[in-house]
Amino acid sequence: MLLKIETEYYIYDSLEDLSEIQRSLLLRAKQNTHHAYAPYSKFYVGAAILTDDGKVIDGSNHENAAYPMCLCAEQVAIANFHQHRTDQKIKSIAISARTADKLIDSPVPPCGACRQILLEVAEKLKADYEVILQGETGKIFVIPSVKALLPIQFDSSNL
Ligand code: THU
Repeated sequence: MLLKIETEYYIYDSLEDLSEIQRSLLLRAKQNTHHAYAPYSKFYVGAAILTDDGKVIDGSNHENAAYPMCLCAEQVAIANFHQHRTDQKIKSIAISARTADKLIDSPVPPCGACRQILLEVAEKLKADYEVILQGETGKIFVIPSVKALLPIQFDSSNL
C-alpha cells in the first residue's frame, strides 16, 4: 500500500491579501527581527505568536560563540508563550527573517527542529494553528495547519 501525504498552503502576493489580524502579526514578526542577537550568521529571524484572546508573544533568534547553542526565533517564542502561563490556545505564528547580505524575497520556513517544537505545543494544547511566513518582501505563505509541516512526527505517543 502506498500512502501519499499532502500539505496545503495559501500563497499570497502581498500584505494586502491578508486579514488585518494576519498582517499585523506578520509585521510584528518583522519588527522582532530587530531584537535578534545574531552576530555570527547575521541572519535575523523574528517570530510572533497570536493567542486566541488576542495576546501577541514575541521571539527572535539568539546566537552564541558556541554555535550549537543558537536559539531559533520560533523556540524563543514558544518558550515565551509558556512563560506567560496562559491557558489560551495559539491561533497563529508568523515568522520573518532578514539578513545583512541580501534581500530575502522568499518565505523562510521553520527548520526541522523548530517544526518539532511547534508541533509539541499543538499537541499539548490539543489545537492546531496557522503558520504565516514571509521574507523581507515577496510571496507570503499561510499554512493553515502546523501539523502539516511535520508529517509522521515523533511525539509523546511514541514514548
Ligand atoms: N533560525 C531561526 O531562528 N529559525 C529557523 O527556523 C531557522 C534558523 C536562526 C538560527 C540561526 O541563528 C540563524 O537563523 C541562521 O541559521
